[in-house]
Amino acid sequence: MQTAMLDVQKIREDFPILKREVNGKPLVYFDNAATSQTPKQVMDVIVDYYSRYNANIHRGVHTLSQEATDAYEQARVKVQEHFNAAKPYEIIFTSGTTHSINMVAHGFGSLLKKGDEVIVSALEHHSNIVPWQMLCEQTGATLKVIPMNDRGELRMDAYEELLSANTKLVFCNHISNALGTINPIETIIKKAHAVGAAVLVDGAQACPHVKPDMQALDVDFYVASAHKMCGPTGMGMLYGKEEWLEKLPPYQGGGEMIETVTFEKTTYAGLPHKFEAGTPNVCGGIAFGAAIDYMNAIGFGTIAHYEHELLEYGTKKLLEIEGLKIYGTAKNKTSVISFNIEGIHPYDIGTIVDKLGIAVRTGHHCAQPIMDYYQIPGTVRASFAFYNTKQEIDALVAAVKKAKMMLT
Ligand code: ALA
Repeated sequence: MQTAMLDVQKIREDFPILKREVNGKPLVYFDNAATSQTPKQVMDVIVDYYSRYNANIHRGVHTLSQEATDAYEQARVKVQEHFNAAKPYEIIFTSGTTHSINMVAHGFGSLLKKGDEVIVSALEHHSNIVPWQMLCEQTGATLKVIPMNDRGELRMDAYEELLSANTKLVFCNHISNALGTINPIETIIKKAHAVGAAVLVDGAQACPHVKPDMQALDVDFYVASAHKMCGPTGMGMLYGKEEWLEKLPPYQGGGEMIETVTFEKTTYAGLPHKFEAGTPNVCGGIAFGAAIDYMNAIGFGTIAHYEHELLEYGTKKLLEIEGLKIYGTAKNKTSVISFNIEGIHPYDIGTIVDKLGIAVRTGHHCAQPIMDYYQIPGTVRASFAFYNTKQEIDALVAAVKKAKMMLT
């Protein structure tokens, strides 16, 4: 693994937004788990696209259309190589993780029946709970939940007990957005496969920090969003093993996903087009490729090493504040710190630190079952990226202390 020293000041030069002020203070951006910031290398690719070759793809013989098609398909290959998928057409471009999950859930609508069971983890984002609940309502299948412990880790003993010949699907995030727990997806996948179940891993929070290998994981579906990894919003991917993507019906009907259309019968296009009806987010796909290039140039080993330092530093400094409790203390976790201060609503802390230029997320983080487990309305969540610094963490700690003083 690549663990070169990360020159954070040099990297910060790539992110124009980090120079701005908020409420008269230098911006400290700690809401990276919600969306990452965009380097100018990616912005340049977007401007170049609209300045030189904006066109619809797979449709025209004209030069612009061909250039845009080539760039879009090259981006698909880039994504394929990054995730080590076996084939480029196993990468379906989507509008993001939620879209990708819904595509698979819709597809399984015709494959599941009453008596089948699907397993979801207690650590999921609503986007990896609700589509499966809808699927169960539609098919009569039963939803089961892998419970968590107080540290915010999945209880693997309980998972094993849930698995049976009735299990058809297992869904789990790679990393929890609310707590930062890194889940043992290798084991989850192996054990699911041993009973013949397919696995979908939500990689939205993992992809900014690690480089998952589809073939090594042997995962059936893996989903991610470009905007969490320095790319644009409205762009994401669904990785699916070829055999599964062939088995699932199309999600939407429309242009581009057909082979032939008559009023009597339509035949569908092959992969990946079968799942890409309508004009896609051409620029988004190309910029996704550029974001992947940008992150790989820094190196995921280097990023993970640096972010771990930020996590350790932030954890130590925040815990020095009396009455502050961190939720999510898993042995394996990424650079997310969810916390509360006794007697203070997270929203009030978030509002005060914003006045001091610091962006954190407050609330249930679209993971209400986790908040219910801890019996809290929500948390303050600081999520660090490779362009953050220890000085910024010091600013957060000072701001939280000030908020505590004002609110107690
Ligand atoms: N899922 C994103 C978050 O955790 C929006 O903030």
